[in-house]
Amino acid sequence: MTIRLAAPALDQAAALLRAGKLVAFPTETVYGLGGDATNDESVAAIFAAKGRPRFNPLIVHLSRADQAERFAQIDSRAALLMQRFWPGPLSLVLRRAPHCPVSLLASAGLDTLALRVPAHPLALELLRSVGRPIAAPSANRSGRVSPTTADHVMSELDGHIAAVLDGGPCRVGVESTVIDLSSKTPLLLRPGGVATEELETLLGPLVTPTAEDAPRAPGMLASHYAPSLPMRLNAASVGASEALLAFGPNAPGGARETCWLSKSGDVEEAAANLFGMLRALDRPEFTAIAVMPIPERGLGRAINDRLRRAATR
Ligand code: TXA
Ligand code: MG
Repeated sequence: MTIRLAAPALDQAAALLRAGKLVAFPTETVYGLGGDATNDESVAAIFAAKGRPRFNPLIVHLSRADQAERFAQIDSRAALLMQRFWPGPLSLVLRRAPHCPVSLLASAGLDTLALRVPAHPLALELLRSVGRPIAAPSANRSGRVSPTTADHVMSELDGHIAAVLDGGPCRVGVESTVIDLSSKTPLLLRPGGVATEELETLLGPLVTPTAEDAPRAPGMLASHYAPSLPMRLNAASVGASEALLAFGPNAPGGARETCWLSKSGDVEEAAANLFGMLRALDRPEFTAIAVMPIPERGLGRAINDRLRRAATR
C-alpha cells in the first residue's frame, strides 16, 4: 500500500527514494512521480507505475542550477534561462553531458535530457536530502489529468508507489513549460507555467515542433489529459445535462453544475483550478463538460493546450 507522508517525514521519503522506491511529491506545478534518475530499475518502475509508453522521456529534477552541467551541455541560452527562471516552472531539453550519470531510459533513447529546478520548498528539501537527481513525470496514469493534490495522486496510484509526500495543493496548477535548446532554433515543446511571452522577450519568437521535429518531441500526443466525459470547448451556451467550466463574470445559465476557473477572468487563478475542476466535473451524471473560451495570453496558452488535448479522443 502507498503511505501518505507529511512534511516532517521528509527524511523517510528521501530514504525510500535512495532505496530505489517511487515517491510522489509536490512541485509548484503538479505532483511528480519521483524515482532515482541514476537507477535504471527506479526509472523503469516509473514507466510501469504510470503505464507510460517507453518512447516518452522524463524530466529530471535538480535542487540547484549549478548541478546542471554534470548532466547536460549548457550553452549561453540555457545559462540565461536557468538564471532567469530557476527555481521555477521551466524545463530545458539539452544535449546530455558526456558522462551523464542519468539512466538512458529517462531519455527514452534520445541524446537529450530535460532538466528542471522546481520552485517548491518541500521538493527542494527532498532533492537536497536525497542528494541525487530525481526523474519525475506528473504523478497520474498515462494520458489522464495531472494531479494537483495528494488525494489526486492516491486516486490513481495507490498501491503502485511506495509513498506520497503531501504538501497541499500546487500553486501553479499546470505543468512546466518545456523548451528544447538541443539545436540552433529553440523549440517550444509544451506551453506551461512560464508564460511564452516572457520567454520570447529573451529568445525571440518561439516556434513549435513540425512533423519533421517529431522524434525530438515524443510527448506531443494529441490526446492527453483526458477526462471520461466528452469536452466541448469555446462554449457560449450550455445544455441542461452539461457541466460548465466557466471563465470570467458572464457565465451562461442553465448548466447542471458550474465550476468557475476564475470569476474575475484571471488566467493564473484559472490555471491553478484547471485540473482539480476537470476531475470534480468528470462524473457520469453529466453528458459533457462545456468550457467557456479562455484568452490565449499568459498561462491561458497552457490552459488552452491542455483543454485541446483533453477534448481530443
Ligand atoms: O511541471 C512539470 O513539468 C511536471 C513536474 C512533476 O515537474 N512534470 C511533468 O512531466 O509534467 P511529464 O513527464 O508529465 O511531462 C514531461 C514532458 C513530456 O511531454 C515529455 O515528452 C517531455 O517533457 N520531455 C521530457 N524529456 C524530453 C526530451 N529529452 N526531449 C523532448 N521532450 C522531452
Ligand atoms: Mg504528464
